[in-house]
Amino acid sequence: MQSGLPSELQTKLHVGIIMDGNGRWAIRRRMSRLRGHEAGVEAIRRVVEAAPKQGVGTLTLYAFSSDNWRRPKAEVSALMSLLRFYLASEVEALVRNGVRLTVIGRRDRLPAGIAEAIGRAEAATAGGETLNLRIAVDYSARDAILNAVARAASLGGLTRENFSDLVTGEAGLRDVDLVIRTSGEKRLSDFLLWESAYAELHFTDRMWPDFGEEDLREALTAFHGRERRFGGLQPEALEPQGEPALSA
Ligand code: IPE
Ligand code: IPE
Ligand code: MG
Repeated sequence: MQSGLPSELQTKLHVGIIMDGNGRWAIRRRMSRLRGHEAGVEAIRRVVEAAPKQGVGTLTLYAFSSDNWRRPKAEVSALMSLLRFYLASEVEALVRNGVRLTVIGRRDRLPAGIAEAIGRAEAATAGGETLNLRIAVDYSARDAILNAVARAASLGGLTRENFSDLVTGEAGLRDVDLVIRTSGEKRLSDFLLWESAYAELHFTDRMWPDFGEEDLREALTAFHGRERRFGGLQPEALEPQGEPALSA
């Protein structure tokens, strides 16, 4: 389990992004879907740079779901090559920018060498204190919960907090504050189901390769305009003595 995240990062927002629409972006431009995925990597770079300046401490990006193995072999291997390329080419910039990278999801089904490259990137960036970047690869939220259940047997007393640590793989990770999904789809597609219990949801028609700093700002502005209640009431909704209206 990962630990040692600077506490300052924990007080900042946790944003999850379902980076969707690469294929449609490319097809509309009469290009191959692969070109869309390549352009998607550029969008990742932009957002990773913009996020810490906009109050984001943890950024979880959905890059490849466990259900994405159902895609044609050629597309899957192109996506895996892009991941390999990202890990090799990006580590230096991540270290320079204080980004701590972890990859969540299964590693045992990835093509040869990728798990090792992930381990190296995680080790090299472990000291990052500006942004906690988590990339979800071969990730399924339901599998993460199932695996946590299997490991929970070893815990003395099960609480929401210690179970959360097992689900997320990171001690004390903040719940997701905001989930963004691009491309106009309005579903969660098995992303961070446990962690998003009280997350605000933001859907935009922007295709992921076109997403940038301003789109992130727009999503965060909308988020800051929401009233989060966590099941309680806002102070102005309380009776003068703080008594619930129906208590008499
Ligand atoms: C998101 O874009 C990237 C992955 C799921 C790997 P898509 O490839 O899903 O793009 P669309 O939804 O087909 O346009
Ligand atoms: C979700 O997108 C997974 C990622 C963005 C990596 P999909 O494009 O795979 O989701 P569905 O199939 O439209 O729900
Ligand atoms: Mg899609």
